[in-house]
Amino acid sequence: MEQERILVVDDDEGLLHLLRMRLSALGFSVTPCTTGSDALVAARQETFDIAITDLRLRAEDGLVLTEELLQIQPGLPVIILTAHGSIPNAVDAMQRGAFGYLTKPFEDKELKATIDKALIQLRMTREIQRLKSLVKELYGLENVIARSPAMQRLFQQVAQIADSDASVLLTGETGTGKEVLARILHANSRRSKGPFVALNCAAISESLFESELFGHIRGAFTNAMTAKRGLFQSANGGTLFLDEIAEMPLPMQVKLLRAVQEREVREVGADYMTKVDVRIITATNKNLTECVKLGTFRHDLYYRVSVVPLNIPALRERRDDIPLLAQHFLKQSASRANKDVRGFTPAAMHRLMGYPWPGNVRELENAVEKAVVMSRQDMVLPELLPSGGASTDIGMKPLTEAKEEFERSYLRNVLQMTGGNISRAAQFAGRYRADFYKMLKKYGLHPSMLKGRHDLELSEVEDAAEEVKDV
Ligand SMILES: Nc1ncnc2c1ncn2[C@@H]1O[C@H](COP(=O)(O)OP(=O)(O)OP(=O)(O)O)[C@@H](O)[C@H]1O
Ligand SMILES: [Mg+2]
Repeated sequence: MEQERILVVDDDEGLLHLLRMRLSALGFSVTPCTTGSDALVAARQETFDIAITDLRLRAEDGLVLTEELLQIQPGLPVIILTAHGSIPNAVDAMQRGAFGYLTKPFEDKELKATIDKALIQLRMTREIQRLKSLVKELYGLENVIARSPAMQRLFQQVAQIADSDASVLLTGETGTGKEVLARILHANSRRSKGPFVALNCAAISESLFESELFGHIRGAFTNAMTAKRGLFQSANGGTLFLDEIAEMPLPMQVKLLRAVQEREVREVGADYMTKVDVRIITATNKNLTECVKLGTFRHDLYYRVSVVPLNIPALRERRDDIPLLAQHFLKQSASRANKDVRGFTPAAMHRLMGYPWPGNVRELENAVEKAVVMSRQDMVLPELLPSGGASTDIGMKPLTEAKEEFERSYLRNVLQMTGGNISRAAQFAGRYRADFYKMLKKYGLHPSMLKGRHDLELSEVEDAAEEVKDV
């Protein structure tokens, strides 16, 4: 097992040396510091499992240091050493986030016992965090549907690059699943145990961008009462997902570029840089090269973030996914609404397959949810689903629909050609007059529209109708 790392802060060099010896003997790796500011520098550079600090440091206060350490490494157990063991101090220490305290002088046994307790707590917090993210990722993954060849190809690419640290740019129309894919990339990378931190660049004001991304120190500006961790620091060891990257204001793009290039950030108000280890995934539904041409997106940043560009096809370009997705959303919605809706009638599925889905998977999800809520029987009927667009995309229609469309225009053409003469048209089409008439009726066609001799044509139609009756 890896050695646990302990940060020890004491301005008394003799005591610091002693502690270092004792802790090393117990098998820990020790980083000794004589001042609080040294300790903060160390905490920014490496992750510790425990910190031990004297309450009274020469120029600093152990409790303030505790708070600052917790800002940098939330959840770090900090043990305070007090010379006098006054109870108010100890209570104050606990309230300010310290894990526990030891009264000087203390025995090795006491020291060991307190450290052991702190380690147990630390392991528990870390395990819970790990399980939480694992459950979340697994839950997300098992619900991802990618049956179509287009998505299969995409997932092959994802498998190839998931393990690298290369920056990925996800493009695709709204609702195609860019965020879903970003999470999949993270979950399949060697950073999967680290955090996945997401920022929607469109939802944040320009003035807050910098402190949001890089954090700020206490007093960096008015209202900055406490220090704040930036998203870069929060994503340390994991993935930072910058959604709607095209919306990032130009001045911020310069700063982001530096962070991405150097892998270090400067907190607002700080005079030092902090190293960060993050993988960057960005997403946009805009054409980013177009934005570069228009001058709203920096060329150098584009080049940095698009090392691996991945495009998620629109739903209408992968209609094979529709039935599975629809059934999946139906199951979810039915259980949420506590309704016994089991599926779609063939005509309803037909409609789902024919609709162009400008809002992609998200629109499908919403449409199915609405249909389930309104459905009065166990199969969803087509009336409950969005319609339209059927004639805009003839290449991708179900066969029956495409056939019907062809027949309709064929009949019109034949009628036009024969000047609306049903007998001749039927003959031309190789059908009996009665059959031909039935077909016209089916498609709501009327020969009068084509020949402009309403009187004659009517009698002809009636004629034909008689024949139909006879059949
Ligand atoms: N392949 C999929 N399988 C199951 N659900 C999916 C799939 N793709 C997307 N979804 C669902 O569709 C919805 C939209 O996905 P997501 O938010 O990832 O899209 P997006 O591309 O980021 O959209 P936007 O551009 O609007 O931000 C989510 O509810 C998501 O769970
Ligand atoms: Mg999104």
